[in-house]
Amino acid sequence: MSLTPYGGTLVDRTVTGAEADALRAEAESLPSIVLEGPTLSDLFLISVGALSPLEGFMDIAAWTSVVESMKLPDGRPWAIPIVLTASHGEAESLAPGDRAALVAPDGEIAGVITVSEIFDRDLEREATEVFGTPDLEHPGVAMINRLGARCVAGPVEYCYSKDISGFPEENLTPAETRAAFAEQGWQTVVAFQTRNPIHRAHEYIQKCALEIVDGLLVHPLVGETKADDIPADVRMRCYKVLLDRYFPPGRTFLSVLPAAMRYAGPREAIHHSIMRRNYGCTHFIVGRDHAGVGDYYGTYDAQRIFDEIDTDELGIQPLKFEHAFYCTVTDAMGTAKTSPAKPEERIFLSGTKVREMLSRGERPPAEFTRAEVADELMNAYRS
Ligand code: ADX
Repeated sequence: MSLTPYGGTLVDRTVTGAEADALRAEAESLPSIVLEGPTLSDLFLISVGALSPLEGFMDIAAWTSVVESMKLPDGRPWAIPIVLTASHGEAESLAPGDRAALVAPDGEIAGVITVSEIFDRDLEREATEVFGTPDLEHPGVAMINRLGARCVAGPVEYCYSKDISGFPEENLTPAETRAAFAEQGWQTVVAFQTRNPIHRAHEYIQKCALEIVDGLLVHPLVGETKADDIPADVRMRCYKVLLDRYFPPGRTFLSVLPAAMRYAGPREAIHHSIMRRNYGCTHFIVGRDHAGVGDYYGTYDAQRIFDEIDTDELGIQPLKFEHAFYCTVTDAMGTAKTSPAKPEERIFLSGTKVREMLSRGERPPAEFTRAEVADELMNAYRS
């Protein structure tokens, strides 16, 4: 398995030091586009190479190819359009060849784009193809509609002086995670995407994966998530206590992914795996209803979608796991593949159920979550 970045080269569009000062000075006199949380996330991810081989925001040809065929124009699998949206007022003053300042939500210059094209995306088309539904109740569909149709394409440079993740210590770039894995001597690394605290079902599939690879990258997504998801700072405390107490030293690595969550289920599973390849991972965990929300996707749709693409080209190997639960017959975690338990003999709680319990001040059971994780969650809900 190759550890090369997607497309062969790790993209680096960040500028620092005197170059960054010069870029910021230039940006002061340029027309500006104000970024929202998700577009700032994508700008950062492009710039540090997490979205290699992208060097900037997509044009209409790339958008169309990704939306319709799940491929970049060069034929490589790619599942989610990465576009920079602008208000009509901002975009009207721009023409191809112009440069525009990219302004972070706090008013600081985050970067500059060299405009190659301005176009309107078809929001309903994108929603139907990428999210599988035009329903505005779907949080990802709502997000693209909030960001709007008008897009500005082109390569970017990044000079934002602040950390965007909220976890500067753990926000390692792909170059940094690659260096860390090399230092550990890991040839094979499995990535675990999550937007939840790690419960025992997660821990079980992580450990199954750890039996066949050298190391585990716990890589929680900490960009924008829907309002009722558990906040990233609470989750980080849960991850740390769990890794500390329940995993052997030297086998895991915790770092954050400051991407926005799309809840695009199957398509997002591919997107998540491409980013993890860029961060240096060889394997990627895809469990039940990966990146799903509500009832929009079937339990294993996000696993089946990998059959539709060229996984050799993708380069990172999906490790697919069935729905894991606590089996009261064997008193152990398992799945239908390993446990004799009938449905009524299985203990599994949905995220919604757990949040309801926590809101009532009830402790989630030990079969569902480790005590130290339950403590962190109960403390967070109390305050
Ligand atoms: S996600 O939106 O990031 O997918 P979550 O953090 O709940 O949500 O899941 C992280 C990973 O664990 C995903 O690959 C998901 O499919 C998997 N997963 C979650 N719960 C289970 C479970 N009970 N059994 C098997 N896999 C699971």
